[in-house]
Amino acid sequence: MTRVIIHGSSGRMGKVLREKIGGLDNMKIVAGIDAVIDDSADFPQFSSPADCSVEADVVIDFSNHAAVPALVDYCCERKIPAVICTTALTEDCIARINEAARQTAFFRSANMSLGINALAKALKSITPVLEDRFNVEIIEKHHNKKKDSPSGTAVMLADAVNSACRVKKDYVYGRHGKDDEVKLSDLGIHAVRGGTIPGEHTIIFAGPDEVIELTHTALSRDIFAEGAIAAADFLAGKANGLYSMDDII
Ligand SMILES: NC(=O)c1ccc[n+]([C@@H]2O[C@H](COP(=O)([O-])OP(=O)(O)OC[C@H]3O[C@@H](n4cnc5c(N)ncnc54)[C@H](O)[C@@H]3O)[C@@H](O)[C@H]2O)c1
Repeated sequence: MTRVIIHGSSGRMGKVLREKIGGLDNMKIVAGIDAVIDDSADFPQFSSPADCSVEADVVIDFSNHAAVPALVDYCCERKIPAVICTTALTEDCIARINEAARQTAFFRSANMSLGINALAKALKSITPVLEDRFNVEIIEKHHNKKKDSPSGTAVMLADAVNSACRVKKDYVYGRHGKDDEVKLSDLGIHAVRGGTIPGEHTIIFAGPDEVIELTHTALSRDIFAEGAIAAADFLAGKANGLYSMDDII
């Protein structure tokens, strides 16, 4: 039985995770950590990692970027592996996770869905064929409660394109106020917000007289929760190190 602490247990993703893990025989939620205490939860809750001394095999984190550094310290001190799904992490925080992975196992992905990770692989494969003649633009759409923009997934997909480019691209976030021509070395990233859209990402390769558009649509949050559960299952008991979706797909 894998004992899980959910960090961000009262949030949208925390609630989906609770429902999914509740239906599993091999996984159990032993505690939740969240600034907001949810009266409907059937596990002990704590408002910060420092207050939680419950024994666990793995932490799953869907919280807020500001809450992640303290969680990373906590997991290092207690040697508990952690699946970090929160986005908009600062460069410092990412560096801290990379360093902390020497002391316990960490798994990090800005998108836990199988489809997005398969799309990232496809982008790495087609980019070298197109990069000399096609502009690349990414449009992402999310619900109106999303706090960060652009999405971590948009940046992850841009990084997948860039990692396969011979000449590295500069990310251009929106074009308001710009009056230059678009350069081949630009990679435009544009965020749309509204309603309850769980997440949509379109990568446009626009060349002379032809356009390729690749779109991934998340139809619910279940895909992220299922990916996080698969990652937690993979990570519990693993040797120290940094793991990603590449290790499980
Ligand atoms: N990697 C992925 O596949 C994936 C998928 C969906 C969402 N996300 C990311 O996960 C994060 C959470 O998403 P969400 O939609 O559940 O957000 P949410 O706002 O609904 O939930 C976040 C929860 O974290 C809690 N929280 C915030 N700051 C805290 C702190 N300092 N200490 C303790 N608890 C704190 C909030 O009270 C809230 O309950 C976001 O960064 C989002 O972008 C990642």
